[in-house]
Amino acid sequence: GDGDDNSTDGGDSGSENIKVGFSQLGAESGWRTANTESVKASLTAENGIDLTFVDAQQKQENQIKALRDFIDQGVDVIAFSPVVETGWDEVLQEIKDAEIPVVLVDRTVDTTVEDPYVTWIGADFKQEGTTAGEWVKENAPDAKIFELQGTLGSGAQVDREEGFDAVVGAENIVGKASGNFTRAEGKAAMEAALQAYPDMTLVFAHNDDMGLGAIEAIEAAGKVPGKDIQIVTVDGVRDGLQALKDGKFNYVVECNPVFGDQILDAIKKVDAGEDVPKETIVVDQAFDQTITQETIDGRKY
Ligand code: AHR
Repeated sequence: GDGDDNSTDGGDSGSENIKVGFSQLGAESGWRTANTESVKASLTAENGIDLTFVDAQQKQENQIKALRDFIDQGVDVIAFSPVVETGWDEVLQEIKDAEIPVVLVDRTVDTTVEDPYVTWIGADFKQEGTTAGEWVKENAPDAKIFELQGTLGSGAQVDREEGFDAVVGAENIVGKASGNFTRAEGKAAMEAALQAYPDMTLVFAHNDDMGLGAIEAIEAAGKVPGKDIQIVTVDGVRDGLQALKDGKFNYVVECNPVFGDQILDAIKKVDAGEDVPKETIVVDQAFDQTITQETIDGRKY
């Protein structure tokens, strides 16, 4: 837009709004659903945004296609949450050549493109892994650990694993497998792991959904989750916190998905050419089995 009032100029309606293309990586987990809801609730026409939102169903090729479509549409700002860290060099260069600023959301990229994004908003995944590892070291120092990994090559998997493994020590980990951050794949990976590593006493699941899938597999094998096999997870969605209260999870490190307002704020500043920090860390907490029902019921996701 070019006017200095808030009305739309005739014949070019909506031109005052910032055109945003948002490429969400998928709908794989309760966390992701809550994150999408938060983004959509904040990036509205009322808040000055014309949003095009595309879900990539956890496929990088879909995400790359969406990003190219955003370039073709000539959006003002591209926001995206990359499913994995690598493989973005070409498309990030294309975005850069088109002079469209990028707001990176949640997960991180690993690219040779210089200054690939203006600002990143997300959680400190490595710290989440460290926090989970510290609980294990303190409360289950002799645990034989199976690590249920998120989508391999994603920032959330790579960094949580790095933080966790550094604290608990590689020698205490009996095995690892990916459940791709979903409940169904988490359950399947756990079923196989119960066969492969019968001596395991603790699961570190990179998210609640996979931990919830693990509960089903453990119970089906006639064991008691939270006792025979302890479960430590990341996220803190309501189902996860309920499992904690019910004694089936032992510890949950929060990853807060509700930061749509911070994304909105960043997009507005970036579009206006204002200075923004290179990184904004979304603050997390952690919960053990002393969590109250009020905390769980007060959870919006
Ligand atoms: O990138 C954040 C992670 O992605 C969440 O922990 C997980 O639930 C989601 O799938």
